[in-house]
Amino acid sequence: MKIGVIGSGAMGSGIAQVAAQAGHDVVVFDEQTTALERASANLQSTMSKLVEKGKLSSEEAQAIIGRVHFSHSMPTLAGSELVIEAIIENLDVKRAVFQSLERLVSETCILASNTSSLSITAIASACHKPERFIGIHFFNPAPLMPLVEIIPALQTQASAVETSTTIIKSWGKIPVVCKDTPGFIVNRVARPFYSEALRIFDEGLADMATIDQAMRNLGFRMGPFELMDMIGHDVNYTVTESVFTAMYFDPRYRPSITQKKLVEAGWLGRKSGRGFYHYAEGAEKPTASADEALLVRIGNRVLTMLINEAYDAVYYGVASADDIDLAMTKGVNYPQGLIAWGKEIGLNQVRNNLIQLHERYGEDRYRVSAGIVTGD
Ligand code: NAI
Repeated sequence: MKIGVIGSGAMGSGIAQVAAQAGHDVVVFDEQTTALERASANLQSTMSKLVEKGKLSSEEAQAIIGRVHFSHSMPTLAGSELVIEAIIENLDVKRAVFQSLERLVSETCILASNTSSLSITAIASACHKPERFIGIHFFNPAPLMPLVEIIPALQTQASAVETSTTIIKSWGKIPVVCKDTPGFIVNRVARPFYSEALRIFDEGLADMATIDQAMRNLGFRMGPFELMDMIGHDVNYTVTESVFTAMYFDPRYRPSITQKKLVEAGWLGRKSGRGFYHYAEGAEKPTASADEALLVRIGNRVLTMLINEAYDAVYYGVASADDIDLAMTKGVNYPQGLIAWGKEIGLNQVRNNLIQLHERYGEDRYRVSAGIVTGD
């Protein structure tokens, strides 16, 4: 089966590698020749590293490289049975690309977008045959992250969901089907990890090192501030802002002015040498408070908000409870699923925590989700 990929940036090149490793012939199309050259060089060096580590034989590596064709011409995508688009995150540009693509491929070719934040339904509606359009959302880096969100548009027919799910499974990935809603599963359910941490910081209740420590104590690999610094504040802030806007300004998703200031200053995190933390040689890392009660209080508050969000997503049918737990553990390495975690703590306890926060602040942000009320 021939697979097409549009866009040879970070995501497109990773997706192409995954498809080629699964044995497919892959055509990667990009409008920029420099991007194609970079992607081709990266694939060669990734394959060499896998050979050095003994993960692939040099024959296998050569065969994988031989199966990926980098192309500057869109018509080379003709004959693909699945095309995954991973270009710039812009609705109009994506719609135009799919309109051109539809003239080249067969009626049965599945058309997919790797968008993180745009509406799958809105992209699909640009297509002549929107029923074969679907979201196939990989996580970065695509070759390493097992989770893939499969997002049917309102128009998508069941057979396109089944075929996409089967293909993604055959690539060794874990597909979870989710509703076309802002942030899908992971980028929605994970919001409180950042936003509640920022809120606690903005209130002056604790410093970033203490909040990071509180979350690591709960088993998260990184604290929210370290993680935002790694993701990049430009990327993380944009995701928060787009979910907030798409959710009609629900205060639960409100972005933080503190984070916006970092973006404005160009302190984007590790990639610019400074974010919340400093990354210059010899820079000192602030130490966390040793106040155990404070650490527990912070950890409980962020976790409570995460659990509320996960139950809300189940309540609104974004995905099944099992798939939401799978998504958070396989997509962003949470120590355990939030639905299961909520049950372990007890939903009564989670509800009481939220009621206390709501009483203290009087803000709708802390309302108990109907999913918590009905989840017992
Ligand atoms: P990128 O900027 O690394 O690569 C985008 C590529 O698309 C560039 O090489 C560019 O030349 C090419 N391109 C732009 N417009 C084009 C057009 N009209 N026709 C052909 N090629 C075109 O971007 P990245 O990070 O790979 O993201 C791509 C998509 O994947 C976006 O929709 C993004 O939201 C999504 N995504 C990104 C993730 C990430 O962590 N970077 C994670 C999951 C999804």
